[in-house]
Parts: sequence; C-alpha cells; structure tokens
Amino acid sequence: MHPALDIVEADITTLQVDAIVNAANESLLGGGGVDGAIHRAAGPGLLSACRALPQVRPGVRCPTGEARITPGFALPARRVIHTVGPIWRGGAHGEPDLLASCYRESLRLAREHDVASIAFPAISCGVYGYPIDPAVAIAVREARAWLGRGEAPRSIVFCCFGAPVATIYRAALAGD
Ligand code: APR
Repeated sequence: MHPALDIVEADITTLQVDAIVNAANESLLGGGGVDGAIHRAAGPGLLSACRALPQVRPGVRCPTGEARITPGFALPARRVIHTVGPIWRGGAHGEPDLLASCYRESLRLAREHDVASIAFPAISCGVYGYPIDPAVAIAVREARAWLGRGEAPRSIVFCCFGAPVATIYRAALAGD
C-alpha cells in the first residue's frame, strides 16, 4: 500500500478503515462529541471493553497524551484507538506536546496491532477547545513524520466533521 494521507468529510463512525481514533477523556467511559458518536455506533460492548481496561490511577484508564485499543464491535472499523487530547488552557501547559503525543501514540499502537489504515478526528478541537489551526498543523506534521518511517499504518485519514475543518486540513496539507 502506497503511503497515503487523505482528508474526508464524514462521520468517523461510518468509515471503512481498520481503526478509527476516538477523542476520549481519561476515564474512557464515554462522553459527548465524537466519543459519544463512536460509543453509540459501536454499541454497549465498547463501553464494557473500555471499563475492563485497567485504571492507572483512580478514574484514569488513559492519561492525556496516551492511547488504548479496543475492538470496534458494531462499527465498520475493526478497532477503536482511544486517545485523550489535552484540554486547551492557553498553550503554555504542554498542550502542543501532549497533542502530538496523541497522534504518535495512536500510530504506534496501530502498528503494534497490524492496522493498515487509520482515521483520526480533530483531537481536542471540540469540547477541549484546542484552536483548530495549530491543532491541524500538529496532526499533519505527525502524520507526515509517521508515513516517512515506512511502517504500518500506511494509510492515514483525517476525518473532518464539516467543510470548514476540511478546508483547514487541505490548506495545511498544501503546505501553506
Ligand atoms: N465524526 C468525526 N468527527 C467528529 C464527530 C464524528 N461523528 N463528532 C464530532 N467530531 C469532531 C468535532 O467536530 C471536533 O472537530 O471531533 C472533533 C473533536 O471534538 P470532540 O468530540 O468534542 O473531542 P475533544 O475536543 O477532544 O473533547 C474530548 O469531549 O466528548 C467528550 O468524552 C469526550 O471528554 C471528552 C472530550
């Protein structure tokens, strides 16, 4: 598979890729936004699988910047990679590095599980308030770096929920 970086405007729960990435919170027990959509589409098995993941400390199954993997259950995607983006607090609290880590850790976990194609939402750009332009720049930078390594996944899809976000991703990919 040739390395590919694609942008689609879609509901991520409908994508026929090996793994979709969930923008979760540290409890991994669901929420709103894309987290809520993924749990609704996957069905109750997803919450059970998340609840079965060990807590690294009370109430925390996935610390910010890390990723965990579960089956996709009723989703078209075989797997869900849950990652927890930083809450935007102005940019001087390590947010950029934590967001970059979400992409890197998700891709590393995907490789460990022989995932060939993976779709990302705009992590942290909703409820967590990360400004879209710098977030997209980080996403594109990390995806390009990964594809340069020549390891699976070789197909990375940015799944945009609406045309405005897709326009920002396309501009970032065009390098301007
Ligand atoms: N498909 C693709 N993208 C989606 C979908 C969907 N079905 N629904 C929402 N999005 C987009 C949003 O428009 C936004 O651009 O996903 C991006 C991330 O927004 P959120 O889902 O709000 O995630 P985030 O900002 O990372 O906040 C995470 O929100 O839902 C809770 O449990 C979650 O506490 C966690 C927090």
